[in-house]
Amino acid sequence: MRHLLISLSLLFYAGTISAQTKNTSEDILQKTDPVAMNAFIDNLMSRMTLEEKLGQLNQHPGGQIVTGAPLESPTGKLIAEGKLGSVFNVKGVDEIHAMQKVAVEKSRLGIPLLVAMDVIHGFETMFPVPLGVACTWDMDAIYESARIAAEESAANGVAWTFSPMVDIALDSRWGRQAESAGEDPYLGSKVAEAMVRGYQTRIMACVKHFALYGGAEAGLDYQTVDMSRQRMYNQYFPPYKAAVDAGVGSVMSSFNIVDGIPATANRWLLDDVLRRQWGFKGLLVTDYASIAEMSIHGLGQLKENSIRALLAGTDMDMCANGFIGTLEQSLKEGKVTQADIDRACRNVLEAKYKLGLFDDPYRFGDKKKAKAITYCKAHKDAARRTAESFVLLKNDAVNGKALLPLKKQGTIALIGPLVDTRTDIAGTWSTVQAPEKYKTLREGFQDALKGKATLLCTQGCNLLDNQKTQEMVARGHGNEPIPFVDADAALAEAVAVAKQADVIVCAMGECAWMSGEGTSRSILELYPPQRRLLEALTALGKPIVLLNFAGRATALQWEDEHLPAIMNVWFGSECADALCDVLFGDVSPSGRLTVSMPRVTGQEPLYYNHLPSGRPVADGSKDYSVFTGNYIDVTQGALYPFGYGLTYSQFTYSAPRLSATKMTTNGSVDVSVTVTNTGQREATEVVQLYIHDREASISRPVKELKDFSRITLKPGESKDVVFKITPDKLSFYNYDLQYVLEPGEFDIMTGPDSRNVQSTTLKVE
Ligand code: BGC
Repeated sequence: MRHLLISLSLLFYAGTISAQTKNTSEDILQKTDPVAMNAFIDNLMSRMTLEEKLGQLNQHPGGQIVTGAPLESPTGKLIAEGKLGSVFNVKGVDEIHAMQKVAVEKSRLGIPLLVAMDVIHGFETMFPVPLGVACTWDMDAIYESARIAAEESAANGVAWTFSPMVDIALDSRWGRQAESAGEDPYLGSKVAEAMVRGYQTRIMACVKHFALYGGAEAGLDYQTVDMSRQRMYNQYFPPYKAAVDAGVGSVMSSFNIVDGIPATANRWLLDDVLRRQWGFKGLLVTDYASIAEMSIHGLGQLKENSIRALLAGTDMDMCANGFIGTLEQSLKEGKVTQADIDRACRNVLEAKYKLGLFDDPYRFGDKKKAKAITYCKAHKDAARRTAESFVLLKNDAVNGKALLPLKKQGTIALIGPLVDTRTDIAGTWSTVQAPEKYKTLREGFQDALKGKATLLCTQGCNLLDNQKTQEMVARGHGNEPIPFVDADAALAEAVAVAKQADVIVCAMGECAWMSGEGTSRSILELYPPQRRLLEALTALGKPIVLLNFAGRATALQWEDEHLPAIMNVWFGSECADALCDVLFGDVSPSGRLTVSMPRVTGQEPLYYNHLPSGRPVADGSKDYSVFTGNYIDVTQGALYPFGYGLTYSQFTYSAPRLSATKMTTNGSVDVSVTVTNTGQREATEVVQLYIHDREASISRPVKELKDFSRITLKPGESKDVVFKITPDKLSFYNYDLQYVLEPGEFDIMTGPDSRNVQSTTLKVE
């Protein structure tokens, strides 16, 4: 055997993420004294009836509760009877405390409720969609976004967020790519860790959806998933595991099947992998009604499926009423044991204990604090800085000078369906967001240009041709949806407005709810009405900047061919101001893609870290050649690759230098690269390290990100960036799922993105 099997116990827990000191001191869940907790829970459980224990396993959405008479509502009744352990997506401190009061004062044992919410990319201060936040490649900013979301959540009564979603999302047709960190397991692991740590400064995080939800066939949400176990371990599992290693308090299982068995009841996945191999000790909740959906998957009745889910390791049943409704009977029939139910109940009670709810059931929710900190200036400033990481995709010269940044002068036309929408500005998902407080793009531009330039605005087109679909996706958060307009009149008006302008800025692409749950697309190109508008505007021969609003990678081949400047924009409550900061040059853009952007939809799923084929063609090759792995009808590879993004400056890279060309299996070497800012202004560069294993026992990706460094350089400044190559950066799960480092040759690559790398060779002996 060529490989060296590294002591599993050592390396398994080192995982695939490079060392970053785990800061548990800030983690509220880590402060618990386990001896005191066990004694408390033993005592409590000794007094609980079976029904009360099953009640703790039951979770419902909050529904409307009348604060003055909470017992009148169906939810209130269940709480009083001890039949509900947790509620989610209830808004308002008064409402949450009214429910808590029923739990504490009216239920027999006064066990407090665990109140959860989908706080996905901010509470009321909204950061860009998670895919956009990941494009910062800035772990401090990502940590901060989660910390701020947690601070606002806690003050507003929420103890538990159903975030982060860390599903690897290779296929951009899948709308939930917006909620992910993108296509890379290494970067995804870093993001998972930063978010868990950020959230758990105040509330409990929930890593989801375990597992493989992003592998839905054809990018169709809820569609089936099928993959090899070595692919799971190497490509899909690392971010979930990183969250577990970072101490995440809870995990949500996914809707999809894994190896033919729904994740909700997959014992191998939930018990062997999650609990035994990874040592997860927290609370395991299902996704929405997924025990009930097992029947639709063809696995029989709710009663049987509730047994399967419990025995697989599930603790809490979200919305299916399977545990509360059937487990008592199953216990009588001997199909589950009291110990199984007690295990689940204990995990729920431990989460409540660790969150301090038994000390003070009202500790989450403080109206005075909520008023002071929710959407406060400091939080807005942080969201604005994060949003500055929109990704600049193209910035060609017009009249001999890069089009961006724009000058605040002359007449600027701002055109497109995203110009006036307030309800879409924050992006796909947070249960609580306050669109009425956010600026529209028009307002942001007006503020930025006041007294300096003339601004002309118009909608110009619909999002798509189908009115019903537009009304569905543009429903936003309730108010002022993007109107469905008369297409010809809107186009004519846009052309008339554009004719008066020196420069045209188009705000197009997706509205908020064109990405997120249940928003698969079969066409990733700009939809026809938007393309028609761009065609009409390009015919005017004026400079055009496309602001491409998106919650996923979209296919911009035509736009790349016809427009001088394109920037991807990922929403956020401060989006309008942040965009103006970048567009008008106060800030140089610093975002880098975390998903490969295809030329055409048919290339999906497109991702840089694919396995090699035996008949590869060069990335970017235009000419079709038969019997090789290329398409007849498109230039090969991504239009904009993973890791890519421009700034307002330019950088050069030296070739990578190794401190030694050979490394032992327990040694390490340094690789360094000199990066120089050769442009005219200060800018931030993300220096990236990739590897490729040339001599492995299984086929390994053509490139794998293994480290990165975000550096800011002044004009003319150079910096040597040094990465340490340690055994874990070169290790992987082999055919037998052992985590190994195999001797042999590795390509070590450095550069500004996954395409533009320079390479050297390292031999591991
Ligand atoms: C989603 C989860 C979400 C849950 C509760 C489900 O449909 O898949 O991501 O946390 O609903 O809202």
